[in-house]
Amino acid sequence: KKSVRDVDVKGKRVFVRVDFNVPMKDGQVTDDTRIRAALPTIQYLIEQGAKVILASHLGRPKGQVVEEMRLTAAGNRLSELLGKPVRKADEAYGESVKAEIAKMENGDVLLLENVRFYPGETKNDPELAKAFAELADLFVNDAFGSAHRAHASTEGIAHYLPAVSGFLMEKELNVLGGALENPKRPFTAIIGGAKVKDKIGVIENLLEKVDNLIIGGGLAYTFVKAQGYEIGQSLLEEDKIELAKQFMEKAKAKGVNFYMPIDAVVAKEFAENAESKVVDIKEIPADWQALDIGPKTEELYRDVVQKSATVIWNGPMGVFEFDKFAHGTKAVAESLAEATDAITIIGGGDSAAAVEKFHLAEKMTHISTGGGASLEFMEGKVLPGVAALNDK
Ligand code: 3PG
Repeated sequence: KKSVRDVDVKGKRVFVRVDFNVPMKDGQVTDDTRIRAALPTIQYLIEQGAKVILASHLGRPKGQVVEEMRLTAAGNRLSELLGKPVRKADEAYGESVKAEIAKMENGDVLLLENVRFYPGETKNDPELAKAFAELADLFVNDAFGSAHRAHASTEGIAHYLPAVSGFLMEKELNVLGGALENPKRPFTAIIGGAKVKDKIGVIENLLEKVDNLIIGGGLAYTFVKAQGYEIGQSLLEEDKIELAKQFMEKAKAKGVNFYMPIDAVVAKEFAENAESKVVDIKEIPADWQALDIGPKTEELYRDVVQKSATVIWNGPMGVFEFDKFAHGTKAVAESLAEATDAITIIGGGDSAAAVEKFHLAEKMTHISTGGGASLEFMEGKVLPGVAALNDK
Protein backbone atom coordinates (compact mmCIF):
# COMPACT_ATOMS: atom_id res chain seq x y z
CA LYS A 1 0.00 0.00 0.00
CA LYS A 2 1.01 3.58 -0.58
CA SER A 3 2.13 5.37 2.56
CA VAL A 4 2.17 8.99 3.62
CA ARG A 5 5.85 9.01 2.66
CA ASP A 6 4.91 8.46 -1.00
CA VAL A 7 2.85 11.62 -1.41
CA ASP A 8 3.41 15.35 -1.25
CA VAL A 9 1.68 16.80 1.79
CA LYS A 10 3.10 20.31 2.09
CA GLY A 11 0.33 22.86 2.43
CA LYS A 12 -2.29 20.12 1.93
CA ARG A 13 -5.29 19.55 4.13
CA VAL A 14 -4.81 15.99 5.36
CA PHE A 15 -7.66 14.03 6.97
CA VAL A 16 -5.97 11.54 9.28
CA ARG A 17 -8.07 8.74 10.78
CA VAL A 18 -6.49 7.75 14.08
CA ASP A 19 -7.71 5.35 16.75
CA PHE A 20 -8.07 7.47 19.88
CA ASN A 21 -10.58 5.01 21.30
CA VAL A 22 -8.72 5.11 24.61
CA PRO A 23 -9.77 4.03 28.12
CA MET A 24 -11.23 6.95 30.09
CA LYS A 25 -12.14 7.53 33.72
CA ASP A 26 -13.70 10.66 35.22
CA GLY A 27 -13.10 12.61 32.03
CA GLN A 28 -9.40 11.69 31.86
CA VAL A 29 -7.47 9.42 29.54
CA THR A 30 -6.19 6.52 31.67
CA ASP A 31 -4.03 4.86 29.00
CA ASP A 32 -2.58 6.98 26.21
CA THR A 33 -0.80 4.15 24.36
CA ARG A 34 -2.89 4.63 21.23
CA ILE A 35 -2.33 8.39 21.21
CA ARG A 36 1.43 7.94 21.54
CA ALA A 37 1.35 5.32 18.79
CA ALA A 38 -0.12 7.89 16.39
CA LEU A 39 2.57 10.52 17.08
CA PRO A 40 5.06 9.54 14.33
CA THR A 41 2.49 10.21 11.59
CA ILE A 42 1.19 13.40 13.20
CA GLN A 43 4.68 14.77 13.85
CA TYR A 44 5.78 13.93 10.31
CA LEU A 45 2.81 15.80 8.85
CA ILE A 46 3.49 18.81 11.08
CA GLU A 47 7.15 18.87 10.03
CA GLN A 48 6.19 18.57 6.38
CA GLY A 49 3.91 21.58 6.68
CA ALA A 50 0.58 19.85 6.22
CA LYS A 51 -2.70 20.99 7.80
CA VAL A 52 -3.42 18.06 10.04
CA ILE A 53 -7.09 17.19 10.54
CA LEU A 54 -7.52 14.29 12.95
CA ALA A 55 -10.62 12.11 13.21
CA SER A 56 -11.43 9.26 15.59
CA HIS A 57 -14.23 7.45 17.32
CA LEU A 58 -14.43 6.99 21.08
CA GLY A 59 -16.68 4.35 22.58
CA ARG A 60 -19.98 3.35 21.04
CA PRO A 61 -22.28 6.39 21.26
CA LYS A 62 -24.68 4.91 18.69
CA GLY A 63 -25.04 7.89 16.39
CA GLN A 64 -25.77 10.56 18.97
CA VAL A 65 -23.88 13.06 21.08
CA VAL A 66 -22.80 11.57 24.40
CA GLU A 67 -21.00 14.18 26.50
CA GLU A 68 -18.59 11.72 28.18
CA MET A 69 -17.53 10.49 24.76
CA ARG A 70 -16.26 13.79 23.43
CA LEU A 71 -12.65 13.74 22.27
CA THR A 72 -11.68 16.81 24.32
CA ALA A 73 -9.53 14.93 26.86
CA ALA A 74 -7.79 12.95 24.11
CA GLY A 75 -7.04 16.25 22.35
CA ASN A 76 -5.57 17.71 25.53
CA ARG A 77 -3.37 14.69 26.00
CA LEU A 78 -2.24 14.88 22.38
CA SER A 79 -1.39 18.54 22.83
CA GLU A 80 0.77 17.70 25.87
CA LEU A 81 2.57 14.95 23.96
CA LEU A 82 3.17 17.14 20.92
CA GLY A 83 4.12 20.17 22.98
CA LYS A 84 1.92 22.33 20.83
CA PRO A 85 -1.71 23.45 20.77
CA VAL A 86 -4.31 21.16 19.25
CA ARG A 87 -7.58 22.80 18.29
CA LYS A 88 -10.66 20.78 19.05
CA ALA A 89 -13.76 21.11 16.84
CA ASP A 90 -17.23 20.54 18.26
CA GLU A 91 -18.35 18.69 15.15
CA ALA A 92 -16.76 16.29 12.68
CA TYR A 93 -17.87 17.90 9.39
CA GLY A 94 -19.94 20.73 7.97
CA GLU A 95 -19.70 24.51 7.74
CA SER A 96 -18.31 25.19 11.23
CA VAL A 97 -15.53 22.68 10.66
CA LYS A 98 -14.78 24.08 7.20
CA ALA A 99 -14.46 27.53 8.75
CA GLU A 100 -11.98 26.18 11.33
CA ILE A 101 -9.95 24.53 8.61
CA ALA A 102 -9.88 27.70 6.50
CA LYS A 103 -8.10 29.40 9.41
CA MET A 104 -5.39 26.73 9.69
CA GLU A 105 -1.76 27.48 8.91
CA ASN A 106 0.67 24.84 7.64
CA GLY A 107 1.68 22.59 10.55
CA ASP A 108 -1.49 23.27 12.57
CA VAL A 109 -3.45 20.43 14.13
CA LEU A 110 -7.24 20.22 14.42
CA LEU A 111 -9.02 17.33 16.16
CA LEU A 112 -12.57 16.70 14.96
CA GLU A 113 -15.35 15.55 17.29
CA ASN A 114 -16.14 11.83 17.77
CA VAL A 115 -17.17 10.54 14.33
CA ARG A 116 -19.61 8.09 15.93
CA PHE A 117 -21.83 10.95 17.09
CA TYR A 118 -23.30 10.65 13.57
CA PRO A 119 -25.39 7.61 12.57
CA GLY A 120 -23.80 7.58 9.10
CA GLU A 121 -20.38 6.63 10.49
CA THR A 122 -20.99 2.99 11.40
CA LYS A 123 -23.45 2.60 8.49
CA ASN A 124 -20.67 3.71 6.15
CA ASP A 125 -23.09 6.22 4.64
CA PRO A 126 -21.56 7.62 1.42
CA GLU A 127 -23.02 11.06 2.19
CA LEU A 128 -21.06 11.25 5.43
CA ALA A 129 -17.95 9.86 3.72
CA LYS A 130 -18.26 12.62 1.11
CA ALA A 131 -18.75 15.24 3.82
CA PHE A 132 -15.48 14.09 5.45
CA ALA A 133 -13.73 14.05 2.08
CA GLU A 134 -14.81 17.64 1.39
CA LEU A 135 -12.70 18.78 4.31
CA ALA A 136 -9.39 17.63 2.86
CA ASP A 137 -7.08 16.96 -0.09
CA LEU A 138 -5.72 13.65 1.15
CA PHE A 139 -6.80 10.78 3.41
CA VAL A 140 -4.29 9.07 5.68
CA ASN A 141 -5.46 6.01 7.57
CA ASP A 142 -3.39 5.41 10.70
CA ALA A 143 -6.15 3.69 12.67
CA PHE A 144 -5.06 0.07 12.54
CA GLY A 145 -7.24 -0.62 15.60
CA SER A 146 -10.33 0.34 13.57
CA ALA A 147 -9.27 -1.11 10.23
CA HIS A 148 -11.63 -4.09 10.60
CA ARG A 149 -14.58 -1.67 10.55
CA ALA A 150 -15.97 -0.57 7.18
CA HIS A 151 -17.13 2.81 8.44
CA ALA A 152 -17.40 6.21 6.77
CA SER A 153 -14.16 7.56 8.28
CA THR A 154 -12.18 4.32 7.86
CA GLU A 155 -13.36 2.96 4.52
CA GLY A 156 -15.96 5.17 2.86
CA ILE A 157 -13.82 8.30 2.68
CA ALA A 158 -11.07 6.42 0.82
CA HIS A 159 -13.37 6.31 -2.23
CA TYR A 160 -13.41 10.09 -2.51
CA LEU A 161 -9.79 11.11 -1.82
CA PRO A 162 -6.30 9.83 -2.53
CA ALA A 163 -5.87 7.37 0.35
CA VAL A 164 -2.62 6.23 1.95
CA SER A 165 -1.50 4.54 5.15
CA GLY A 166 0.13 6.27 8.10
CA PHE A 167 3.27 5.01 9.83
CA LEU A 168 1.46 3.10 12.59
CA MET A 169 -0.77 1.34 10.07
CA GLU A 170 2.27 0.51 7.98
CA LYS A 171 4.21 -0.85 10.95
CA GLU A 172 1.31 -3.01 12.17
CA LEU A 173 0.81 -4.50 8.71
CA ASN A 174 4.52 -5.07 8.18
CA VAL A 175 5.16 -6.72 11.55
CA LEU A 176 2.00 -8.80 11.79
CA GLY A 177 1.84 -9.48 8.07
CA GLY A 178 5.54 -10.32 7.89
CA ALA A 179 5.25 -12.82 10.72
CA LEU A 180 2.23 -14.49 9.16
CA GLU A 181 3.47 -14.59 5.59
CA ASN A 182 7.18 -15.09 5.96
CA PRO A 183 8.05 -16.05 9.55
CA LYS A 184 11.46 -16.84 10.89
CA ARG A 185 11.10 -20.44 12.06
CA PRO A 186 10.34 -22.15 14.32
CA PHE A 187 7.13 -20.11 14.43
CA THR A 188 4.98 -20.45 17.55
CA ALA A 189 1.51 -19.14 18.26
CA ILE A 190 0.12 -18.96 21.77
CA ILE A 191 -3.65 -18.68 21.85
CA GLY A 192 -5.53 -18.11 25.07
CA GLY A 193 -8.69 -16.42 26.22
CA ALA A 194 -12.01 -17.59 27.52
CA LYS A 195 -13.76 -19.07 24.54
CA VAL A 196 -13.02 -21.40 21.64
CA LYS A 197 -15.84 -19.66 19.77
CA ASP A 198 -13.86 -16.38 19.58
CA LYS A 199 -10.65 -18.03 18.39
CA ILE A 200 -11.89 -20.51 15.78
CA GLY A 201 -10.82 -18.38 12.82
CA VAL A 202 -7.42 -17.64 14.33
CA ILE A 203 -6.66 -21.26 15.17
CA GLU A 204 -7.82 -22.38 11.72
CA ASN A 205 -5.59 -19.85 9.94
CA LEU A 206 -2.56 -20.32 12.19
CA LEU A 207 -2.63 -24.11 11.85
CA GLU A 208 -1.66 -23.51 8.22
CA LYS A 209 1.35 -21.43 9.19
CA VAL A 210 2.93 -22.30 12.53
CA ASP A 211 5.32 -24.98 13.73
CA ASN A 212 3.97 -24.93 17.28
CA LEU A 213 0.51 -24.10 18.52
CA ILE A 214 0.11 -23.57 22.25
CA ILE A 215 -3.27 -23.10 23.88
CA GLY A 216 -4.27 -21.85 27.31
CA GLY A 217 -6.99 -19.93 29.08
CA GLY A 218 -10.59 -21.01 29.47
CA LEU A 219 -10.76 -22.27 25.90
CA ALA A 220 -8.15 -24.95 26.62
CA TYR A 221 -10.53 -27.04 28.73
CA THR A 222 -12.82 -27.83 25.82
CA PHE A 223 -9.69 -29.35 24.23
CA VAL A 224 -8.84 -31.22 27.42
CA LYS A 225 -12.37 -32.60 27.46
CA ALA A 226 -12.04 -33.53 23.78
CA GLN A 227 -9.02 -35.62 24.79
CA GLY A 228 -11.33 -37.58 27.04
CA TYR A 229 -10.44 -36.10 30.44
CA GLU A 230 -12.87 -34.80 33.03
CA ILE A 231 -12.62 -31.05 33.61
CA GLY A 232 -14.91 -30.55 36.61
CA GLN A 233 -16.53 -27.12 36.62
CA SER A 234 -14.02 -25.61 34.17
CA LEU A 235 -15.30 -23.68 31.16
CA LEU A 236 -16.71 -26.02 28.56
CA GLU A 237 -18.21 -25.32 25.18
CA GLU A 238 -20.07 -28.55 24.59
CA ASP A 239 -20.78 -27.68 20.95
CA LYS A 240 -17.07 -27.11 20.22
CA ILE A 241 -15.74 -30.47 21.40
CA GLU A 242 -15.91 -31.95 17.90
CA LEU A 243 -14.16 -28.92 16.45
CA ALA A 244 -11.44 -29.18 19.09
CA LYS A 245 -10.89 -32.78 18.03
CA GLN A 246 -10.68 -31.73 14.39
CA PHE A 247 -8.13 -29.04 15.22
CA MET A 248 -5.96 -31.55 17.03
CA GLU A 249 -6.20 -34.00 14.12
CA LYS A 250 -5.38 -31.26 11.65
CA ALA A 251 -2.34 -30.25 13.69
CA LYS A 252 -1.14 -33.82 13.61
CA ALA A 253 -1.72 -34.15 9.87
CA LYS A 254 0.17 -30.93 9.22
CA GLY A 255 3.06 -31.75 11.52
CA VAL A 256 2.22 -28.86 13.84
CA ASN A 257 3.22 -29.53 17.45
CA PHE A 258 0.11 -28.95 19.51
CA TYR A 259 0.50 -28.09 23.19
CA MET A 260 -2.19 -27.89 25.83
CA PRO A 261 -2.02 -27.63 29.60
CA ILE A 262 -0.58 -30.65 31.42
CA ASP A 263 -1.51 -29.27 34.83
CA ALA A 264 -3.79 -26.54 36.13
CA VAL A 265 -4.52 -24.30 39.09
CA VAL A 266 -8.03 -25.24 40.11
CA ALA A 267 -10.34 -23.26 42.37
CA LYS A 268 -13.42 -24.03 44.45
CA GLU A 269 -15.24 -21.10 42.90
CA PHE A 270 -14.73 -18.30 40.40
CA ALA A 271 -13.53 -15.64 42.83
CA GLU A 272 -10.51 -13.47 43.57
CA ASN A 273 -9.56 -15.29 46.76
CA ALA A 274 -11.02 -18.71 46.08
CA GLU A 275 -9.40 -21.74 47.68
CA SER A 276 -7.05 -23.23 45.08
CA LYS A 277 -4.55 -25.98 44.36
CA VAL A 278 -2.41 -27.38 41.54
CA VAL A 279 -3.52 -30.64 39.95
CA ASP A 280 -2.53 -32.82 37.03
CA ILE A 281 -4.71 -32.15 34.01
CA LYS A 282 -6.10 -35.69 34.23
CA GLU A 283 -7.19 -35.12 37.82
CA ILE A 284 -9.38 -32.04 37.90
CA PRO A 285 -11.82 -32.76 40.76
CA ALA A 286 -15.52 -32.78 39.86
CA ASP A 287 -16.50 -29.70 41.87
CA TRP A 288 -13.40 -27.56 41.09
CA GLN A 289 -12.63 -25.38 38.11
CA ALA A 290 -9.38 -24.61 36.33
CA LEU A 291 -8.57 -20.87 36.44
CA ASP A 292 -4.94 -20.92 35.37
CA ILE A 293 -2.27 -23.15 33.86
CA GLY A 294 -0.05 -24.97 36.36
CA PRO A 295 3.74 -24.75 36.94
CA LYS A 296 4.61 -27.77 34.76
CA THR A 297 2.67 -26.23 31.89
CA GLU A 298 4.52 -22.94 32.42
CA GLU A 299 7.82 -24.85 32.11
CA LEU A 300 6.69 -26.66 29.00
CA TYR A 301 5.53 -23.48 27.29
CA ARG A 302 8.70 -21.61 28.26
CA ASP A 303 10.77 -24.38 26.62
CA VAL A 304 8.82 -24.06 23.39
CA VAL A 305 9.14 -20.27 23.38
CA GLN A 306 12.90 -20.54 24.04
CA LYS A 307 13.30 -22.64 20.90
CA SER A 308 11.23 -20.33 18.71
CA ALA A 309 12.37 -17.59 16.32
CA THR A 310 8.92 -15.98 16.00
CA VAL A 311 6.19 -15.97 18.64
CA ILE A 312 2.71 -14.49 18.32
CA TRP A 313 0.63 -14.34 21.47
CA ASN A 314 -3.07 -13.61 21.77
CA GLY A 315 -5.15 -14.23 24.87
CA PRO A 316 -4.34 -14.79 28.56
CA MET A 317 -3.56 -18.21 30.07
CA GLY A 318 -5.86 -17.79 33.04
CA VAL A 319 -8.03 -15.32 34.91
CA PHE A 320 -5.19 -12.79 35.16
CA GLU A 321 -7.49 -10.07 36.54
CA PHE A 322 -7.28 -12.08 39.80
CA ASP A 323 -3.69 -11.95 41.11
CA LYS A 324 -3.98 -15.47 42.42
CA PHE A 325 -4.63 -16.77 38.91
CA ALA A 326 -2.31 -14.45 36.99
CA HIS A 327 0.82 -16.54 37.38
CA GLY A 328 0.50 -18.52 34.14
CA THR A 329 -0.14 -15.42 32.05
CA LYS A 330 2.79 -13.68 33.72
CA ALA A 331 5.04 -16.68 33.10
CA VAL A 332 4.20 -16.67 29.40
CA ALA A 333 4.78 -12.90 29.23
CA GLU A 334 8.15 -13.39 30.94
CA SER A 335 9.18 -16.19 28.64
CA LEU A 336 8.51 -13.93 25.64
CA ALA A 337 10.44 -11.12 27.32
CA GLU A 338 13.39 -13.48 27.84
CA ALA A 339 13.37 -14.59 24.20
CA THR A 340 15.50 -11.63 23.15
CA ASP A 341 16.62 -13.22 19.87
CA ALA A 342 13.09 -14.00 18.78
CA ILE A 343 10.51 -11.78 17.16
CA THR A 344 7.79 -11.46 19.78
CA ILE A 345 4.43 -10.05 18.82
CA ILE A 346 1.53 -9.36 21.14
CA GLY A 347 -1.75 -9.47 19.27
CA GLY A 348 -3.56 -6.71 21.11
CA GLY A 349 -6.44 -6.76 23.58
CA ASP A 350 -6.07 -8.68 26.85
CA SER A 351 -2.56 -9.97 26.18
CA ALA A 352 -1.38 -6.41 25.53
CA ALA A 353 -3.03 -5.36 28.81
CA ALA A 354 -1.28 -8.25 30.59
CA VAL A 355 2.13 -7.29 29.20
CA GLU A 356 1.55 -3.70 30.36
CA LYS A 357 0.41 -4.90 33.78
CA PHE A 358 3.63 -6.89 34.25
CA HIS A 359 5.77 -3.99 32.92
CA LEU A 360 7.23 -6.09 30.12
CA ALA A 361 6.07 -3.97 27.17
CA GLU A 362 9.60 -2.71 26.42
CA LYS A 363 10.84 -6.25 25.99
CA MET A 364 8.54 -7.19 23.14
CA THR A 365 9.25 -6.68 19.45
CA HIS A 366 5.76 -5.35 18.83
CA ILE A 367 2.53 -4.85 20.73
CA SER A 368 -0.37 -4.34 18.39
CA THR A 369 -2.67 -1.39 19.04
CA GLY A 370 -5.52 -3.43 17.56
CA GLY A 371 -7.78 -5.72 19.53
CA GLY A 372 -10.48 -6.90 17.17
CA ALA A 373 -8.43 -5.69 14.21
CA SER A 374 -5.36 -7.79 15.01
CA LEU A 375 -7.58 -10.79 15.68
CA GLU A 376 -9.24 -10.47 12.28
CA PHE A 377 -5.86 -9.93 10.68
CA MET A 378 -4.57 -13.13 12.28
CA GLU A 379 -7.66 -14.90 10.96
CA GLY A 380 -6.35 -14.03 7.51
CA LYS A 381 -9.21 -11.65 6.78
CA VAL A 382 -8.84 -8.61 4.56
CA LEU A 383 -9.39 -5.51 6.70
CA PRO A 384 -11.72 -3.08 4.87
CA GLY A 385 -9.83 -0.03 6.11
CA VAL A 386 -6.68 -1.42 4.51
CA ALA A 387 -8.27 -2.75 1.35
CA ALA A 388 -9.62 0.73 0.53
CA LEU A 389 -6.17 2.34 0.48
CA ASN A 390 -4.36 3.07 -2.79
CA ASP A 391 -1.79 0.56 -3.97
CA LYS A 392 1.74 1.62 -4.77
C1 3PG B 1 -11.06 -1.13 19.36
O1 3PG B 1 -10.92 -0.61 20.47
O2 3PG B 1 -10.93 -2.37 19.16
C2 3PG B 1 -11.29 -0.26 18.18
O3 3PG B 1 -11.13 1.08 18.53
C3 3PG B 1 -12.65 -0.52 17.56
O4 3PG B 1 -13.69 -0.21 18.45
P1 3PG B 1 -15.12 -0.86 18.21
O5 3PG B 1 -15.02 -2.32 18.59
O6 3PG B 1 -16.08 -0.09 19.06
O7 3PG B 1 -15.43 -0.73 16.73
